[in-house]
Amino acid sequence: MTLNQINDHFRYYEKAVANYNALTTLLANDSVPEQEKKQIEFRRTYENNTIRLHELFFENINPKRILPSLEFTDKIASAFGNLSAIEQDLVAVSEAEGVGWAGLFASNDSVVVAFIRGSDFGSVSDAGYKPLIIIDCWEHAYVKDFGMQGKKEYVSTLTKYIDWGVVEKRFNDIRSA
Ligand SMILES: [Fe+2]
Repeated sequence: MTLNQINDHFRYYEKAVANYNALTTLLANDSVPEQEKKQIEFRRTYENNTIRLHELFFENINPKRILPSLEFTDKIASAFGNLSAIEQDLVAVSEAEGVGWAGLFASNDSVVVAFIRGSDFGSVSDAGYKPLIIIDCWEHAYVKDFGMQGKKEYVSTLTKYIDWGVVEKRFNDIRSA
């Protein structure tokens, strides 16, 4: 990923932080009606998801491919067969219509690949799943480097740079919680 492309993420990230802060200020304002505050809280959750998803995404991508331990590969293999099956599934879900995030998620007893439309993280987390891998599939994530039609090539390339050390730690944290 080029620096030019990464800067696009930072612009979205900074905008989300600014929006989040502005909405927090509004929520603290006593003159804002309660009904309106519910909408503001909803919008703030969305901005918070955008911030959090970007942080998870940057954390789980590494220019040096960090492979998982054999023990973790075995655990994941029970659900997917092997690591390349996960990579292929991530590419497949990224083909979903609309912008969003492709991800691998774990609950107490299962691991799934899913697509988060927009930044509506709630649908996945409400079902009891927590993120192991997050890949930004918004247009700003790939257009400069891979072109308008380059989403598939972009996700496929990125799966080769997943930091499996980070993924393994997230998995162990979820299962030991
Ligand atoms: Fe982004």
